[in-house]
Amino acid sequence: MQEDIFDFDSELKAKTKYIENVMKLYLPKEEGFQENIIKAMNYSVFAPGKRIRPMLMKETYELLAYDNTYNYQALEIFMVAIELLHAYSLVHDDLPALDNDELRRGIPTTHVKYGEAAAILAGDGILNYAYELVAKAFEVGADTQCIIKSFKILSEKAGIYGMLGGQAVDVETAGMVNDVKKLNFIYELKTGAFIEASMMIGAILAGVNDETVEKVKNIASDIGLAFQIQDDILDVTSTTDVLGKPVNSDEKNEKSTYVTLHGIDISKEYVGFYSERALQGIKELDGYNKFLNELVIRLVKREK
Ligand code: IPE
Ligand code: IPE
Ligand code: MG
Ligand code: MG
Ligand code: MG
Repeated sequence: MQEDIFDFDSELKAKTKYIENVMKLYLPKEEGFQENIIKAMNYSVFAPGKRIRPMLMKETYELLAYDNTYNYQALEIFMVAIELLHAYSLVHDDLPALDNDELRRGIPTTHVKYGEAAAILAGDGILNYAYELVAKAFEVGADTQCIIKSFKILSEKAGIYGMLGGQAVDVETAGMVNDVKKLNFIYELKTGAFIEASMMIGAILAGVNDETVEKVKNIASDIGLAFQIQDDILDVTSTTDVLGKPVNSDEKNEKSTYVTLHGIDISKEYVGFYSERALQGIKELDGYNKFLNELVIRLVKREK
């Protein structure tokens, strides 16, 4: 039976490898007078991350696309672009002026390895390169309206109404957030926005209508909240070895988090609540993707 041969862990491994192979196709060569900055870019991008955002994008596409394949190459470009935007957000998040962390994905952060100036520029380079790639999506024979919509979502979710806006409020209000509304605002933007962009673009390229894209956005928003609350929990319950990034970073930076506001047990209940609601939302969509369901469950139970 189909059920018996589903091996999530080996599928996850294969899908992660596939994503990294696609990334390799699109990332710049380390050559020319800019060689050093390109090295710093590739160092940050190819450090062993979980590749969750491109994975969510592809799995949402698979869930909703049926046999529509004409947007597939565009999908690959957007998968790389979202992972690049995420990588840039991490490089800058770790900088001394922000979270001042020295380990990321199990290796020294970009500013520790290449110096602060190079890390700032590498982050900028990765950010810009994401849009250089997206511009190419207009040339691969995909549906132009789908590309325009996806581009709009991607750019909005990266900027002041997305990740950057969340990061800005997170940084300027460290230690001063005592209401859950503001904390949710920060989480929805700094972390939720890229997860929303990933799943919404997967849905848009699959060719679904605006109403379905809106439903996917709400599902992704719940996944984003659960994902960040779990990140906060791991920051206090895990070890640096397992996480590949320093534990107690939030305490060091006097961050208000779900854990400081509610304690670990209630935070865990919130993770359960938001992930359950997301799974229910996925169930109500017109399609079935066993891997995506399991991925959402594993994401919020993750240990790194
Ligand atoms: C880390 O994201 C930043 C947060 C939004 C919590 P991930 O946990 O997806 O990091 P990588 O990409 O696997 O390193
Ligand atoms: C940052 O949240 C999310 C980003 C936009 C980079 P955190 O600061 O908690 O992420 P980690 O724990 O450093 O990965
Ligand atoms: Mg941070
Ligand atoms: Mg951080
Ligand atoms: Mg964190």
